[in-house]
Amino acid sequence: MSSISIIGTGNMASTIGALAVAGGNTVEVVGRDQSKAAELAKTLGGGTTTGEFGAVPAGDIVIVALGYANVVPVVAQYGDALGGKVIVDVCNPVNSAGDGLAIPDGTSIAEGVAAAAPASASVVKAFNTTFGAVLAKGQPLDVLIAGDDEHAKAGVAEFVESLDLRPLDVGGLTMAQYLEGTGLVMIGLAQHGVGNFDFALCVTSPS
Ligand SMILES: NC(=O)c1ccc[n+]([C@@H]2O[C@H](COP(=O)([O-])OP(=O)(O)OC[C@H]3O[C@@H](n4cnc5c(N)ncnc54)[C@H](OP(=O)(O)O)[C@@H]3O)[C@@H](O)[C@H]2O)c1
Repeated sequence: MSSISIIGTGNMASTIGALAVAGGNTVEVVGRDQSKAAELAKTLGGGTTTGEFGAVPAGDIVIVALGYANVVPVVAQYGDALGGKVIVDVCNPVNSAGDGLAIPDGTSIAEGVAAAAPASASVVKAFNTTFGAVLAKGQPLDVLIAGDDEHAKAGVAEFVESLDLRPLDVGGLTMAQYLEGTGLVMIGLAQHGVGNFDFALCVTSPS
């Protein structure tokens, strides 16, 4: 089982946190608003603790569950406090219309996180292609992950498996920009072809 910290107290933080507790992981939640973190820790139960925003997180895996515009600034604010940690970026940098990415072509927030984080930290993109409300249903879904550090990716994959989800490696961190594009495709499907947010991407092997 893994030791994780979640920075953020919103939808993805509470959804991943609940699955993490159910999966027997050690969970810490951290928010800029300590009262929201305390409330979420109480809701999650299972011995969930709270940490101080900006201080060294307790978990080996640190899931940053913030809006895309806040992810890199918060990682930069943490600075050396994230040394040696595996940082998981879950964000989708989608514009307000939901019809394009909000960052320049050829870039990704995850790679921005890697540039802002201490050299001893590793960054893994994960969970951005699964809607929180669908994750919360507790069904076995595919979680696409990308990162350059195989050991870090293996640790995140083990954590994902503990949630009864299937981790699928798409390659190095440069693939994060395409995962972020896939997040945009999910939103396009929700707005058009599917018509709602109650679906998930699934990788199958035809027999
Ligand atoms: N929701 C989904 O289905 C889903 C699926 C895949 C990926 N994602 C990605 O997951 C990320 C989080 O989404 P969400 O739905 O969980 O969002 P959310 O419910 O709005 O939660 C956002 C969190 O960010 C915190 N925050 C905002 N500004 C901050 C700042 N300047 N410094 C520190 N914390 C700040 C908020 O704290 P306060 O309460 O104090 O404002 C809140 O805890 C997003 O990047 C999104 O693209 C979401």
